[in-house]
Amino acid sequence: MNLFLTSNNADIKQYKNILGQITEEITKAFCDDKAYSGLTPQELKEIIHENTILPEKGLGWETVLQKLKEKILPNLLRTPSTDYMAHLHGPSLIETIAAEAIISTFNQSMDSWDQSPVATEIEVETIHNLCTLYGYDSTKSDGVFTSGGSQSNQTAIILARDWFCNEKLHYDVKKYGLDEKCSKLRMYTSEISHFSMEKSAHILGLGYKSAVKVPVDKNKKMDLTALRNLIAQDKKNGNIPFLIVATVGTTDFGSIDPLKELAQITTAEGMWLHADAAYGSGVIMSQKYKSRVAGLELCDSITVDFHKMFVMPISCSAVLVKDGSTFDALTIHADYLNREEDEEDGYTNLVDKSLQTTRRFDALKVWTSFQMRGKDGWNQIINTSMENAAYLYEKLYNDNSFAVVCKPEISSVVFRYSNGKAELCDEINKKIRRKLIHEHGIVIGQTVSDGRVCLKFTLLNPLITHEKLDELIVLIKKLAEQ
Ligand SMILES: Cc1ncc(COP(=O)(O)O)c(C=O)c1O
Repeated sequence: MNLFLTSNNADIKQYKNILGQITEEITKAFCDDKAYSGLTPQELKEIIHENTILPEKGLGWETVLQKLKEKILPNLLRTPSTDYMAHLHGPSLIETIAAEAIISTFNQSMDSWDQSPVATEIEVETIHNLCTLYGYDSTKSDGVFTSGGSQSNQTAIILARDWFCNEKLHYDVKKYGLDEKCSKLRMYTSEISHFSMEKSAHILGLGYKSAVKVPVDKNKKMDLTALRNLIAQDKKNGNIPFLIVATVGTTDFGSIDPLKELAQITTAEGMWLHADAAYGSGVIMSQKYKSRVAGLELCDSITVDFHKMFVMPISCSAVLVKDGSTFDALTIHADYLNREEDEEDGYTNLVDKSLQTTRRFDALKVWTSFQMRGKDGWNQIINTSMENAAYLYEKLYNDNSFAVVCKPEISSVVFRYSNGKAELCDEINKKIRRKLIHEHGIVIGQTVSDGRVCLKFTLLNPLITHEKLDELIVLIKKLAEQ
């Protein structure tokens, strides 16, 4: 029985056979440009149900391949389709799929050097390059790959909390845990920032109360006057401001908080500034638009997601830190894994910086794709997606049937069909999205802004054209009027 790819000829044959067949079937599944087959949840349940997925005797590869072909592949969301524009979730660049094959075939684990020798060195080098790209002093900065934006944010918040407790409160929170004073710690983030802020505050034992939500202005950016007032009020009440989290690309609108002004506040107040650039980190690749994310280099830490604007396979994210020594918060030595004597001899054990122990070699995707496409290729990908958003905004803005929430700074456009009474239009917008999925295989987003149901186009895919967007506007109007 063949188990793994080894140097044995039968294993090599089986590996090539299975991967060859699956590559063939995957390509056949892209039979049209539709994003989805249109099946309902109930229909899917009926199709995929088996009495057991663990039969007494194995069915063998050919039978399972047949099931994959019939039941699963046709009903997967085809993320590369230009009919898919719902979330901050995109297709996978072809070269990064090749990197994924290497990642899972060799199954390196990034916790210790002896589980990932060259992979560790590639991650270190990739992080070094990323720190330079985002404007950090590469001799002091550092970073680590994570499972996604949520974990990158959580890591940054832990580092900020521990740094603040050590430096400002002269209290070793890592050793002694939360004390009375820690319950007074406060972090500030916009009311439309990602929920991983509250979640992290809860996981850190600080509770939701410590994540103070700051109102946004009409462009969906953090309101600086409100922020200053909230900090002043908290200080007056005996609370301790320690962190501001700026969102560089809010989940729904792509709006960017004012980084330079926020950096002035954190410097004056002795606080940490984290940039949740899970979405907007890609903008740095655009020569034309990178000034929109100017100020990232002023932040103490940055979340960079490669499985959003950078269109790489899930999972792929990194957290970068201006002062790498703050990773001490996460370092703990285990005799079996990250021995101090090995580290003194130049063996890097990346577990020292990570919330995870066993961890994927996701850095390979960035290393591969950055080199293959270069600055030029990346500039084109990001510009196209941002310019599509600008085009769509203009079209909707100039059409009386629609109201657009705000001018896009990145690649998301939030709008609503607004030709009628507000409550009725809420229902019409919901109906439009459902009909698009089930009758047309087109998947767009839905959210709420100022209490009203809105539709959302998240234009990460650079294959989307202006013609495509024109056609969609016509279709949406037709569905609204049905
Ligand atoms: C602004 C922002 N931050 C963080 C996240 C969380 O990222 P992930 O889903 O990779 O955990 C998201 C997800 O959409 C996001 O939009």
